[in-house]
Amino acid sequence: MFFVYFASFLYLLAAQDENVDDDDEFLKPPPDDEGSFAHPLHRTYLEDSYCMDGTQAAAYVYEGSTDDLIMYFYSGGICISDNTKFLKYGDYAYIDNCTHRNTTFYGTSNGYPEEFNANQGLMGNNKYQNFHLRKAHKMFLMYCDGNMWHSQMNSQVFKGALSQMKLIPKRIILAGSGVGGWYIINKYNELKSAIQELYQDNDIELRILLDSVIFDISRNQDIINAYTEVTNRIGISINDIFSFDALLKVDVPTFIVHAQYDWWQLEINDGFECIGKIHLDKCTPKEKKQIEKIRLNILQQLKDLMKIKQDWGLWAISCVFNELIIWTEAWNHPKFQVPMIEGGKLSDKFQDWLENKGDNHVHYDIVSWPDNKPCSNIFHSGKTDPQLDDMIKNYEINESRRKREEKYDL
Ligand SMILES: *[C@@H]1O[C@H](CO)[C@@H](O)[C@H](O)[C@H]1NC(C)=O
Ligand SMILES: *[C@@H]1O[C@H](CO)[C@@H](O)[C@H](O)[C@H]1NC(C)=O
Ligand SMILES: *[C@@H]1O[C@H](CO)[C@@H](O)[C@H](O)[C@H]1NC(C)=O
Repeated sequence: MFFVYFASFLYLLAAQDENVDDDDEFLKPPPDDEGSFAHPLHRTYLEDSYCMDGTQAAAYVYEGSTDDLIMYFYSGGICISDNTKFLKYGDYAYIDNCTHRNTTFYGTSNGYPEEFNANQGLMGNNKYQNFHLRKAHKMFLMYCDGNMWHSQMNSQVFKGALSQMKLIPKRIILAGSGVGGWYIINKYNELKSAIQELYQDNDIELRILLDSVIFDISRNQDIINAYTEVTNRIGISINDIFSFDALLKVDVPTFIVHAQYDWWQLEINDGFECIGKIHLDKCTPKEKKQIEKIRLNILQQLKDLMKIKQDWGLWAISCVFNELIIWTEAWNHPKFQVPMIEGGKLSDKFQDWLENKGDNHVHYDIVSWPDNKPCSNIFHSGKTDPQLDDMIKNYEINESRRKREEKYDL
């Protein structure tokens, strides 16, 4: 899977060991630092839960040693009958045709390896990746139904998944990116009941962590049509997704993570070719002005939501990215902070919120791109940051290569 190369690349940055250059080395802890050892996650199959092609749905598990349990719902867009309009974006629209998706990593569990050793960010278990929650129990739920989770998951399946975990948790964090996040938003009540039924008398604290769920698709009829095909198929409404009304209904404390220049929003949905997933440097002043309007409109809605939901939290960075919590680079890295000075790392801010520490849990950059300089990918001189540039470029290249591979190699 695409995490492998990227993770070892990040590890290279952290490890100061010039000889670390393959995956075996990646698993070897550096001397004197037990906290750097990255433990793989182990595959498990979920009962009565199936991928598009009928294979059994799977998850990857880490047995931790605290009372926290993180259930993470992965992202991956949708499949529709005819995706001709999105073919030009390659793999990045995350809108496939169903025939094609059936044979990919997002449609079948065939070829999922037994161990997943490049877990990062929230799914990481060493100090560098995931300082605060490294010892939490974790389940990385793999998305493979093309139906925004609505076919492969339900409260019975969820209970089965929970009962595979060897703990009675004190706290459960339901985390999700993209459509995984929207599944949690739509079904939080059922997931909550499943938790109550399973653990009966135990008082379990429930928290939600949503990553890259806020999109404004109102200007793109093709995307509206594509998502409507799926919402019709699964019996929900298009207003149940990407909507602040749906978010407002959620009555569980929730933390929202958002890239103010989300490239899926700007490049795929709004068609700004100047983005290139990396920075806005190629955009004209006119394009930048349009982009600012989009960014500020979404940010304002997020701020309004936070006024209504007093116990919620927000971390919204002024950088170009998409999906932040399972990348160490964004979750726990000094280049990604709000505000940009020391002390605004996502993992720290999330932990403060989780522990009710401090009274401000709403963090957003007020500056435009590229003024959160460390994550802007631009130096003061206007040149791009070669390190960040490489990271993001390689991530793209390897991700699309990974998807084309017949054999899945996590
Ligand atoms: C992407 O893959 C190539 C070839 O497999 C590798 O050399 C490169 O380091 C990978 N990218 C990253 C970010 O590790
Ligand atoms: C389905 O998608 C694949 C890959 O994106 C493409 O090669 C194929 O032509 C598409 N098929 C149809 C019927 O659109
Ligand atoms: C997916 O694959 C399964 C098994 O090969 C097949 O029965 C099903 O019709 C396929 N679905 C689509 C949409 O191609």
